[in-house]
Amino acid sequence: MCGIVGYIGKRDAYSTLIKGISRIDYRGYDSAGIAVSINGSLETLKCVGAVSTLKKETSKKNACGTVSIGHTRWATHGKPTKANAHPHLSCDGKIAVVHNGIIENHQALRKYLISEGHKFTSETDTEVIPHLIEHLYEGNLEKAVAAALKQLHGTYGIAVIRAGEKKIVAARKGSPLILGIIGKGEYILASDIAAITEYTKKADYLEDGEICVLTDKGYRITDHDDAPHSHIVKTINWSVAAIEKQGFEHYMLKEIHEQPETMRTIIAGKFDFKNKIPKFGGIRITPLDLKNLDRAIILACGTSFNAGLAGEYFLEKTAGLKTEVVYASEFLCKAEKLSSRDLVIAISQSGETADTLAALRKANSDGAHSIGVVNVVGSTIAREVNSGGLYIHVGPEVGVASTKAYTGQLLSLFLFSLWLGRMRGSLKPAEAEAEMKRLTSLPALAEAALKNEKKIIAIASKFKNATNFMYLGRGIHYATSLEGALKLKEISYIHAEGMPAAEMKHGPIALIDKKMPVVFAVKRDDGYEKIIGNIEEVKARKGIVIAIAEESDKEIHKKADYVIRVPDSTQELSSMLFAIPLQLLAYHIARFRKCEIDKPRNLAKSVTV
Ligand code: AGP
Ligand code: GLU
Repeated sequence: MCGIVGYIGKRDAYSTLIKGISRIDYRGYDSAGIAVSINGSLETLKCVGAVSTLKKETSKKNACGTVSIGHTRWATHGKPTKANAHPHLSCDGKIAVVHNGIIENHQALRKYLISEGHKFTSETDTEVIPHLIEHLYEGNLEKAVAAALKQLHGTYGIAVIRAGEKKIVAARKGSPLILGIIGKGEYILASDIAAITEYTKKADYLEDGEICVLTDKGYRITDHDDAPHSHIVKTINWSVAAIEKQGFEHYMLKEIHEQPETMRTIIAGKFDFKNKIPKFGGIRITPLDLKNLDRAIILACGTSFNAGLAGEYFLEKTAGLKTEVVYASEFLCKAEKLSSRDLVIAISQSGETADTLAALRKANSDGAHSIGVVNVVGSTIAREVNSGGLYIHVGPEVGVASTKAYTGQLLSLFLFSLWLGRMRGSLKPAEAEAEMKRLTSLPALAEAALKNEKKIIAIASKFKNATNFMYLGRGIHYATSLEGALKLKEISYIHAEGMPAAEMKHGPIALIDKKMPVVFAVKRDDGYEKIIGNIEEVKARKGIVIAIAEESDKEIHKKADYVIRVPDSTQELSSMLFAIPLQLLAYHIARFRKCEIDKPRNLAKSVTV
């Protein structure tokens, strides 16, 4: 969570920083602040709320050829007030720090520093850092930072500047930091590549335990004992256009509409058309080890967890591999030890989610094979998996509510299951080929699903004031129901529950009355009769039924109050197609309710604490 930006170079520090933090304010938007080193002292500006307020304050300012740091906050310790906004300063006002993460021993450090005469002005855990650095400073900033880091417990990505010194000192442990190399002596440091991409395509990813010193002469990366580390500079392939709204009112709507295109990209990148098999060159597990796997364990949070539930279905059916899906946070509570016959699949759009990362590290230390299904190239999870993985390549997802990443995760997981099925011999070449042939029609089917937006807007307008929603689906559409409910609650703040359709009878049916909209995912398959039975049960209790159903279903309009059509497809493809109207329904309800769609309250794009 939280966005960090640092800049050293000859451009105007204010506009460069504001542009940078505006690009990543989806990481946190409780407050924003910057510190600029000018003529031997620091100028600090802070505001509560989004970066736009700060932008107004800095619009008339100009400071070229200097060093500066900025921050957008997602509060963990202390309310979102101006006093708690970053950067935080030392007593003498000379040292400024921006921080992402949590300092677990902040109370003990605060007590100690107060006893040494330091005065605190905020409630944050972060504020101990500038005071500690000040306390340990003996004329060399990086040495004082290294000494301070040795006393910190918890997680951090930090950037530190000191009045009068032409340098930024950055360090990380558990929170991402990336260095964008604009030119020799000109650098932009950020917690997310979206802040970097318009300045440079050259990026150096910091690792946990490293300190980076940026000056106007060059940069140096070391460990905490000053031993140099050598790095390979990577190329970023996200364009600036990809992080613009391109005429859409919100990023979320743009990203929903991008899905046919992102599906095309995935298919183009992961299909080996000649050999009629998906290709996954980034997975480093021998064919023998793949055959010997006993099970897959999918670790993820939120939307990525929901994608994992569909992944379980794909892997068991197509690759013949027993699969468990575990919330990453819960995985840490389990006593079981994994082995090399377990394949851990960490799913994460951002590749930075703290719970998923912690679970992955536990799985790695147990000796399991681990792979990632990640969107952000070079992210921590992508780097820490021990057996490679696959990128979903849907481009930057800016809306806090995940949409194109969800369908990208499903499509990638399905292709991976086909590949694994072939590698393990559980899938015949002709079966894989037939599935792949069917898959090529998916982008066009997604386009057709998007065409029903008008109808969805009409339904959204009817139910914009509902206080509760229920989402029901069977089998693979259990994932759809969870994802539909998650989308609605996170952006419209309407309470929603998703569950397996038959589970409704075991308690939640008590909630149903004439005010309760129940959204059903109705796939014409073996479970069709059963789901129609569930619809009857809701109708018998005067509930309102909104059905997502296929074009060929000629019966459903007799049962449901409202029907949103999706094109006919297979079970697997329907997992992606059914998600689209649910994303649109949540979006339009939130829009009618005038909610902050791209930056819902209390949330942040990547949960790194
Ligand atoms: C999705 O709409 C949510 N904002 C959230 O649940 C998200 O999917 C979750 O935090 C996991 O993020 P990740 O995929 O980046 O790991
Ligand atoms: N823990 C710090 C705070 O509450 C940093 C939070 C963040 O990552 O934004 O200010």
